[in-house]
Amino acid sequence: MRIAFSYAPGKIILAGEHAVVYGHPAISLSIDRGVRIKVQERTHLSGPIGPTLKATGLGFVGCVIPGVDGEGPLVLRQALERLVELLGERVRDLDFTAESAIPGGRGLGSSAALSVAMIRGAKQYFGEPLSKDEEARHALELEKIFHGSPSGIDHTVVSHGGLICYQRAQEPKIEPILMSRPLSFAIGIAGPHGGTLKAVEALSVRASRHPERFKHIFEGIANLVGEMKESLKNGQLAAVGELMNVNQGYLNALSVSTVELENLCGIARGCGALGAKLTGAGGGGAVIALVEEDPASVVTAFEKAGFLAFSTTCESKEKLEA
Ligand code: PMV
Repeated sequence: MRIAFSYAPGKIILAGEHAVVYGHPAISLSIDRGVRIKVQERTHLSGPIGPTLKATGLGFVGCVIPGVDGEGPLVLRQALERLVELLGERVRDLDFTAESAIPGGRGLGSSAALSVAMIRGAKQYFGEPLSKDEEARHALELEKIFHGSPSGIDHTVVSHGGLICYQRAQEPKIEPILMSRPLSFAIGIAGPHGGTLKAVEALSVRASRHPERFKHIFEGIANLVGEMKESLKNGQLAAVGELMNVNQGYLNALSVSTVELENLCGIARGCGALGAKLTGAGGGGAVIALVEEDPASVVTAFEKAGFLAFSTTCESKEKLEA
């Protein structure tokens, strides 16, 4: 029986989430955890119409079968249907098994990683080449199912890998950033966020009530993204950390932070982290804390306070490939 395997990493956003939806630049980085997929021919050919998706670690268990009478979360069934539209009816004959090392709904790119890994896995199974362009186009279509009208930063960094500056546009601007040294983070997980789509929509309602005020906040975020890009290139980690703290202040002003997220930031800074901020949509989700060397003490402090936590070390893609 033919079997194919694929992988796509999760991601964190170092600066610029939400502002990126309004066309400002943001900096994002793939992490050393992600979603692994096994693709094989459907085992229950007489059952309901496929493809099927079995997953562990993505915040749901069980088997997803698309179609009106299908089983599993609606959004996943819709994503599988979209995959069939994108890659053809032959996808109905496939079973996907996904194993995720990134918790879902926490702003760590689980839906983008699942999307990219499924596209890679299916193409690999069919023995067909997959250009970066095609991968990004298809992944955006799946991300629209998960997030409505996403800026595109999640699937772009997951597909590209490494550290990038991203700006939404008809033809998105993707600038790889070459870091002079690796970045180490402690990641603390608060509860699930209420969904990226809802957070983005609620923010747009708030922004429409105070357009000038929000415009200034977004411009402030865009300025710090520019500064952070230079600090990353020059290996000035203390400056990167400070800018993360400033970005967190802006995110709080946008009302996307929570008591738990602020608490995680406070714990990390109290343990000597260079900077800490929420990552992704907010309203729950995860905090990333940049550390000079070993993230262990911050991870332990997060855990002692009752949060799930792990560490991750990231390098520029160009460094990884060297
Ligand atoms: O899906 P999340 O939680 O990683 O958030 C993505 C970043 C946002 O800027 C909030 C949304 C977007 O489409 O860029």
